[in-house]
Amino acid sequence: MDAYNITVVGGAGLVGREFLQLLDQYNVPVGRLRLLATARSAGKVFEFRGDRITVEETTPESFTADDHVVFLSASGAASKQYAPLAASKGSFVVDDSSAFRMDPAVPLVIPEINPEDLEWHHGIVSQPNCTTTPMVLALNPIHRVNPLKRVVVSTYQAVAGAGAAAVEGLKTESRAALEGRHEPSGTQKREIAFNAVPQIDVFDAGGYTKEEIKMANETRKILHAPNVAVSATCVRIPSFFGHAMTVWAEFERPVDAEEAKRLIAGQASVRVIDDPARELYPTPMDAAGNDEVLVGRIRSDSSLPGGLTFWTVTDSIRKGAATNVIQVIQEAARRGLVRRR
Ligand SMILES: NC(=O)c1ccc[n+]([C@@H]2O[C@H](COP(=O)([O-])OP(=O)(O)OC[C@H]3O[C@@H](n4cnc5c(N)ncnc54)[C@H](OP(=O)(O)O)[C@@H]3O)[C@@H](O)[C@H]2O)c1
Repeated sequence: MDAYNITVVGGAGLVGREFLQLLDQYNVPVGRLRLLATARSAGKVFEFRGDRITVEETTPESFTADDHVVFLSASGAASKQYAPLAASKGSFVVDDSSAFRMDPAVPLVIPEINPEDLEWHHGIVSQPNCTTTPMVLALNPIHRVNPLKRVVVSTYQAVAGAGAAAVEGLKTESRAALEGRHEPSGTQKREIAFNAVPQIDVFDAGGYTKEEIKMANETRKILHAPNVAVSATCVRIPSFFGHAMTVWAEFERPVDAEEAKRLIAGQASVRVIDDPARELYPTPMDAAGNDEVLVGRIRSDSSLPGGLTFWTVTDSIRKGAATNVIQVIQEAARRGLVRRR
């Protein structure tokens, strides 16, 4: 792989900082690295491979033809403003926000599932929501041999999914609550310490939140399965890292739980930890800092003959975000698709 000049917008954030570590872990050759953020973080210094990188404030002039790769992990508004600009300079842009995920001109890619969609990128590649990725990675190997018809999913999402401020918010709320005070940090829709909040993002018509609608739409786009029915309920819980979810799935034909377990275990980037006799299953703590999607509690759905239910956990910052981006860059490089235009 060539050494690329890489710019990270949101380089001082949770995902941006994890991305730096993963560049190292995955031995990605890097030419020049720049970290951009807002004026709040401008001047902060991070170390990368022995070099000290000073965070700069993002402006439209930040984007030049020098960048081979631009990774945007800041906000939807920043992505809408800067992603087209970076792409217009010829950079290969990977966007971590929801701004372009459902744009028909932008591929939404999990390299283990739909790497071929990279072939038709026009400069921007979008990155799925951190709850969509684990769910579709676990469903994909079954869907390949027995098309997915319907999914019901309920999530238990860590505060890290809402960024660095939300991690701090849970810490301060927890300390206060243990001393008998209720001091919501404002980083979630309700006080989150010792609570569970069934709202992530804002409500849309029909009573679903945008997070829930993202899970439905992105699943259909990634699996190339426009008719799959999805009903999601997304819940924030007071864990720091590691998103969990329970999935109930129905396929065109009845699924045998043992066969499903075998198929899921064969999916790249997925590890099955499932042995009820030994009380073995993954928890969010097992997922934290891990690049795999961990799956357990795989069993027949007792409410639906032929249906399947399982539990899965993933680090939202890693495979839910930065790890997938590294793998997208590597796959695009392998296919000669970085700065193709
Ligand atoms: N956390 C996750 O699990 C996860 C998973 C998938 C996708 N994402 C997406 O990834 C993005 C970043 O998430 P995060 O968890 O890293 O958030 P974060 O910890 O809050 O960090 C956000 C970073 O973006 C910068 N930023 C915000 N607005 C900006 C703007 N207008 N121009 C330039 N930089 C800007 C911030 O700058 P300052 O440092 O100056 O404040 C900060 O460095 C979001 O779009 C999020 O939806 C997150």
